[in-house]
Amino acid sequence: MAINGEKRANTEDIAVYAEKIRRFFSESGRTPLAFVHSFGCQQNVSDGEKIKGVLAKAGYGFADSPSGAELVLYNTCAVRESAELKVLGLVGELKHIKKENPSMIIAVCGCMAQQEHIVDKIKKSYPYVDIVFGTFAVHELLRYIYDVLTERKRVFDISVYSGSVIENLEQLRESSFKATVPVMYGCNNFCTYCIVPYVRGRERSRNPEDIISEVEGLVRQGYKEIMLLGQNVNSYGRGLEHEISFAELLRHVNAIEGDFRIRFMSSHPKDLTRELADAIFDCEKVAPHLHLPLQSGSDRILSAMNRRYTAKSYLETVDYLRSRDEGFSLSTDIIVGFPNESDEDFKATLDIMRRVKFDNIFSFIYSKRSGTKAAEMEDKTTEEVKSRRMRELLSLQREISEEHYRRFIGKNMRVLVEERSEKSGLLIGKSDEFIIVEFEGDNSLIGSFVNVSITDAYNWALVGKINQ
Ligand code: 5AD
Ligand code: SF4
Repeated sequence: MAINGEKRANTEDIAVYAEKIRRFFSESGRTPLAFVHSFGCQQNVSDGEKIKGVLAKAGYGFADSPSGAELVLYNTCAVRESAELKVLGLVGELKHIKKENPSMIIAVCGCMAQQEHIVDKIKKSYPYVDIVFGTFAVHELLRYIYDVLTERKRVFDISVYSGSVIENLEQLRESSFKATVPVMYGCNNFCTYCIVPYVRGRERSRNPEDIISEVEGLVRQGYKEIMLLGQNVNSYGRGLEHEISFAELLRHVNAIEGDFRIRFMSSHPKDLTRELADAIFDCEKVAPHLHLPLQSGSDRILSAMNRRYTAKSYLETVDYLRSRDEGFSLSTDIIVGFPNESDEDFKATLDIMRRVKFDNIFSFIYSKRSGTKAAEMEDKTTEEVKSRRMRELLSLQREISEEHYRRFIGKNMRVLVEERSEKSGLLIGKSDEFIIVEFEGDNSLIGSFVNVSITDAYNWALVGKINQ
């Protein structure tokens, strides 16, 4: 028996409640509209697409704003306090809207809602919120909605269904050319600053057959970019009945026929294996780019973060990737102001940034998350110092990108066209190297690959001309 094996969502149950909800609204002569908004990472956005898929089955259409909606659902993020405060503010605003439309159902779900102290707060201070559920119960949503519709009772469910993955929930995808495909859920790493292992539970991998058939379906529908998702994709496959590594999965997905590219996120530097690095170069559909969260360049801080690698071993990985491809593109996450980060620690982060030359950095000021180990560490660094460090880091990265992006001038890059930029009026897309590229062209190109010859570089994007 599989330890982690998948669990099929009970589609019969979903269908029964979908029908009940459809009947409820058709009897009351109302057309239900839902406003669904997801915050945070791609995993959460992917969950939001599943939520929309389930709601569409029950006959919901989708609104652009909460006013006029029968259901408002916030799918929340808990990684930083600012994300939580934003949601609480938005939920607060719903009080007035619900006064005008008392039948409106308000639901809060996702990572923030998986924490007991948040649930208590909502119970007490936001009595007009009807449904709260965490990250494990998307397949139960229709039942909750039906209970509220018929009994007006509040529902709180933050149970943890560990050891299983819910399969076969149809997603209502936002994009018709870029798709995210979760390969695993949860995290076992317990970095000391991070709430994710507490709100998303232990690692569970999906069966490779389910992943491959999902990607095949997406490619048949014309999707051009497949982003494989996991909190730490390098742990993919552990605990499955037939163990398989992420590198092996990549090779299987790469073997699917079609004109598409493959990305994946995120990789933990402590277990970015040579096997995976080699698979990136061997698989022609896998984009030549890696997102490899560094968090800090100081060994003292990395150890306090429980990251289990050193600046030196991180650099060894980078050196290997660059030995295979000199201009290999890297992006990273960095936390500024971890408890008691000294000037010297921060300088070590700047030093490694200069050495690696990331194409892109996602930087965050440390945010204390209750329940994590770091939340118990005394922190003497002032907010002012943290903000100053953040400004310094951003300014250094601007310099690095400006110079480093110049390596692409005169080169041809394959770009997936995403949209028209409101600011410049030009088409905008991402190259295989995950760099923003702007160029002139027709809207009909959106959603397809074009070849762009690069003429100039800014510190945030490249500019070029489409090759006819
Ligand atoms: N404070 C600030 N940033 C955080 N991240 C995770 N937890 C925190 C926190 N408590 C950042 C890390 C991670 C990214 C997704 O979010 O850099 O890689
Ligand atoms: Fe959080 Fe670390 Fe797990 Fe990433 S690897 S989700 S930072 S605990």
